[in-house]
Amino acid sequence: MSAQREGATQADALSHASRDNVGEIPYEPVFVGAVREELDALLGRYPNKMAALLPTLWMVQRERGWVSEEAMVEVAALLELTPAYVKGVVTFYTMYHQHPVGRYFIQVCTTSPCLACGADKVVESLLGQTGCGDLGATSPDGRFTVIEVECLGACGFATPIMVNDEVIESVTPEKVSQILTRFK
Ligand code: FES
Repeated sequence: MSAQREGATQADALSHASRDNVGEIPYEPVFVGAVREELDALLGRYPNKMAALLPTLWMVQRERGWVSEEAMVEVAALLELTPAYVKGVVTFYTMYHQHPVGRYFIQVCTTSPCLACGADKVVESLLGQTGCGDLGATSPDGRFTVIEVECLGACGFATPIMVNDEVIESVTPEKVSQILTRFK
């Protein structure tokens, strides 16, 4: 398939994806205006468009909070990739959210060393005090989502958690309440 036809097919797919949102808010492209200018500058720093896929997806997540199917189609069209390739990358890396999450995304290490130091109790306390209830669920006020992750590289400071990009070490169930007050 020619590159031009490929591009047309992806544009068709994006249009189709938008039309599929019957009764929902139509998809608004991410890469317009200043964000598109930022992408163009980014692409200039990479040898080809495919090489810029990961940072492009980060831009989507920064702008929207997650990476939707429609956004994957948009990125595919811009970087001259197939939507399936982009989806393969998004689903490979756990850092990309495939559904909306809370404003504060909390990751708790529950790998064996931290688990032996009580990480499960930290998770329990976080789920209760955020109102999330379950792992991966978002609190009713939209503030928090809590998940378990593998080693965060702070094994000597059990239990470490990450709130968005911030690492907080030596978290205990007793400290959870005070920690959460920082995240409005
Ligand atoms: S095992 Fe928990 S940070 Fe390494």
